[in-house]
Amino acid sequence: MDLLSSKWILNLILCSLFIGVGGNSVEKKIYVHLNYTVPCVRLLNATHQIGCQSSLSGNVGVLHVLESEDNLDWVLKSGPNPPYLVILESPLFTRSIMMKLKNGSRRVAGVVVVAPNANPLEAFSPHTTCPNENSGVYSEDYDPALAHCNVTVWNPFGNGLAYEEFDFPIFSLKDDNDTHVIRQCYMEHNRAVNGSTPQYPLCAMQLYSHMSAVTNTATCMRRNDIDFSISPEMVCDPLGDYNVWASTRPINNTAKGHKMWESVVIAAARLDSRSFFFDIAPGADSGVSGFVTLLAAAHALRNATQEAPPNRTILYAFFQGETFDYIGSSRMVYDMQNNQFAVDLDNVHSVLEIGQVGLHTESKLWLHSDPVSRKNSSVLFQVRKLIENLQSAAGGLNISMDEPSVSQPLPPSSFQRFLRARPIPGVVLEDHQSAFSNRFYESMYDNAEYLNISYPPNMTPEEQLEFVTDTAKVTRLLYGFLVRSNNSWFQQLIPSDLMSHLGKPTNFYVGVTQQSSEPTLLVQHLLANLTGSTVNITQENCQNQREDENDKENKHMYYYMWVQGAAPPNSTQREGFCIRSTVRLSKALSPAFDMREYTSKDYSTWTESRWKSIKGRIFLVASHDLEVNPSPHRVKDNICKADLTHLPSCNGVVVSHILQDIWILK
Ligand SMILES: *[C@@H]1O[C@H](CO)[C@@H](O)[C@H](O)[C@H]1NC(C)=O
Ligand SMILES: *[C@@H]1O[C@H](CO)[C@@H](O)[C@H](O)[C@H]1NC(C)=O
Ligand SMILES: *[C@@H]1O[C@H](CO)[C@@H](O)[C@H](O)[C@H]1NC(C)=O
Ligand SMILES: *[C@@H]1O[C@H](CO)[C@@H](O)[C@H](O)[C@H]1NC(C)=O
Ligand SMILES: *[C@@H]1O[C@H](CO)[C@@H](O)[C@H](O)[C@H]1NC(C)=O
Ligand SMILES: *[C@@H]1O[C@H](CO)[C@@H](O)[C@H](O)[C@H]1NC(C)=O
Ligand SMILES: *[C@@H]1O[C@H](CO)[C@@H](O)[C@H](O)[C@H]1NC(C)=O
Ligand SMILES: *[C@@H]1O[C@H](CO)[C@@H](O)[C@H](O)[C@H]1NC(C)=O
Ligand SMILES: *[C@@H]1O[C@H](CO)[C@@H](O)[C@H](O)[C@H]1NC(C)=O
Ligand SMILES: *[C@@H]1O[C@H](CO)[C@@H](O)[C@H](O)[C@H]1NC(C)=O
Ligand SMILES: *[C@@H]1O[C@H](CO)[C@@H](O)[C@H](O)[C@H]1NC(C)=O
Ligand SMILES: *[C@@H]1O[C@H](CO)[C@@H](O)[C@H](O)[C@H]1NC(C)=O
Repeated sequence: MDLLSSKWILNLILCSLFIGVGGNSVEKKIYVHLNYTVPCVRLLNATHQIGCQSSLSGNVGVLHVLESEDNLDWVLKSGPNPPYLVILESPLFTRSIMMKLKNGSRRVAGVVVVAPNANPLEAFSPHTTCPNENSGVYSEDYDPALAHCNVTVWNPFGNGLAYEEFDFPIFSLKDDNDTHVIRQCYMEHNRAVNGSTPQYPLCAMQLYSHMSAVTNTATCMRRNDIDFSISPEMVCDPLGDYNVWASTRPINNTAKGHKMWESVVIAAARLDSRSFFFDIAPGADSGVSGFVTLLAAAHALRNATQEAPPNRTILYAFFQGETFDYIGSSRMVYDMQNNQFAVDLDNVHSVLEIGQVGLHTESKLWLHSDPVSRKNSSVLFQVRKLIENLQSAAGGLNISMDEPSVSQPLPPSSFQRFLRARPIPGVVLEDHQSAFSNRFYESMYDNAEYLNISYPPNMTPEEQLEFVTDTAKVTRLLYGFLVRSNNSWFQQLIPSDLMSHLGKPTNFYVGVTQQSSEPTLLVQHLLANLTGSTVNITQENCQNQREDENDKENKHMYYYMWVQGAAPPNSTQREGFCIRSTVRLSKALSPAFDMREYTSKDYSTWTESRWKSIKGRIFLVASHDLEVNPSPHRVKDNICKADLTHLPSCNGVVVSHILQDIWILK
């Protein structure tokens, strides 16, 4: 992806650099705008602010390409022209270097991390070693010996960078010819040769990412309220989105609360992920592997559940915002406790969660359960039954499923929020026995390349989409989420007004609650296609949630969606149709915001700051006076990789067998 402006501007600056334009008049005329800038932004919780920001007018610094950690001394102490804007190759984007830059922030104007074109060999995770440490079930009260990842450090490679606060901007740029120009500009003008001091004009960079919110969520929510009375200018918004759910048997969704005779098995997966940078969260193993497996399982079970409805209803749940202290699952549990959901906790028989399952080796998956609730004999009995059934289902599929040691607690999982409410039996399926197999947890490298999804060269996108189609659509789903959501299959399954949401690999960062995001919309429509049925009714009736003019009942049980369909051969006109399914959205907004408890210890308090512009540019400066004129321009894009792909696994089939077997449970 090109990050500098059009070629001629580029040539212009190259020429001016090479003919050595000097003097005072250069600087303000020659700007190269960075088109694709991926920032780190400010987030806030009950007690802290994390992330990055620039000053209101942008931070300007003299470019310094860091060649090694030893070279930091120039930036932090000896260089004569601070502040510096430090360009880092990704191997230098380490905790050690970043914390030194943070400590020396007087001399640091900002940081640019050049994203590599291929994943590194070493592990990298900007998340913490103990994800959601304080919001799962393992508190001091529940069992002090299990709190704070005492038994298992789940994410040993976590360096915690994504939870630090930096008072300078940090952007990511893709490594291409344009970053080459940045390096060249540095080499020509700024590099100290043989101990000499570089002379003006120097090559400088300016980054804008000013953030409106400060301090913590309580402070910015209070500012929102004050400002709102004067002018509707918000400074921060709660993180959140919508959960997607569906049931194998229609459940009256108008009547909330307990349902007599209803017993549901919740089959869950999380939807969201994160990385250090705002628009890059590919979440291949950490999120996509699990929810794609669940989608495939739901599809594989459609016929069976329609022909012979199981005694227990399976409720598929895809949770949003789980990265940020379990926003989606904690909200669903809260709604179940407060008669705001179609069933309540008394209706929940058990939970089967699909976690990270993209990296299993030797066809082995692990069944995690909770040692504390298992002390209750009836819970233990149900968990044992679940595990036996899972193991026998897997037996016929060349997959083995084992249990980790009995004293190990659950890995970070949505199920923990159900256990916080009551001791519900449940199992979490993972590709790791103890610490994560995922070396790139919640990082920009947890992508298609990492899951070995690749296609033979020279295949068109359409050929890639169709490449290997036998196992329950799993490959097409992975392709759609990890490589290209704008493909002919996804296009058919959505309404025409959502076409603009489709694109390259999906960004799974949860974002703020205004409307449902691309991942939510896609999963909602895919789940409807994979579990629902088409009904031959008019677009108007479909959109009005009825089968005909007299129908007043079905809307309680079903949801109707008009999708654009495909164009028949010899036509360019798509033929839309109506899908009837049990797929619904439910709020994934932390209850803390409904209750206005912005310092809540029970519920997520994460908010995202607002900002006006995110942009960057480079230019020559003639003197120490780094004053510059801002210009309005913001283009953001996802710079994830589009390296392509073949099929990994048949997890969906396994899970469908597993779910089938759970019906037999009594
Ligand atoms: C970058 O932005 C400039 C100014 O808007 C535009 O003219 C140019 O085409 C853009 N370049 C790319 C590669 O998108
Ligand atoms: C932080 O910077 C100060 C000087 O500004 C230095 O004395 C101190 O050792 C640094 N701390 C760390 C942890 O690098
Ligand atoms: C974990 O908890 C046990 C029991 O409370 C304690 O003996 C042990 O020291 C703890 N380990 C760590 C690493 O905190
Ligand atoms: C807020 O986030 C910071 C940084 O991750 C963390 O140290 C702190 O414990 C969090 N506060 C709460 C109340 O969760
Ligand atoms: C990058 O530069 C190389 C060598 O100058 C050239 O062959 C290549 O086409 C350029 N790539 C792009 C995307 O401009
Ligand atoms: C730097 O010093 C080395 C050895 O002292 C010399 O060979 C080289 O030419 C010098 N480079 C410049 C640009 O002066
Ligand atoms: C669903 O519940 C609503 C509200 O209680 C009720 O009016 C409606 O008749 C119910 N529909 C069905 C099909 O049970
Ligand atoms: C479901 O049944 C239909 C019609 O009987 C059949 O065409 C389809 O292949 C079946 N789907 C699955 C996933 O078994
Ligand atoms: C699902 O999508 C396919 C196109 O890929 C279409 O043929 C089928 O009719 C759809 N089914 C439903 C229930 O939407
Ligand atoms: C759909 O309904 C219309 C009008 O009732 C009818 O003409 C048409 O043949 C039906 N299409 C299908 C595929 O059943
Ligand atoms: C499409 O057009 C071709 C040639 O114009 C014709 O032979 C073919 O039968 C048409 N197919 C359909 C489905 O109408
Ligand atoms: C389902 O329930 C019916 C009646 O309650 C019972 O006869 C049947 O055996 C049950 N089926 C399964 C698979 O448990």
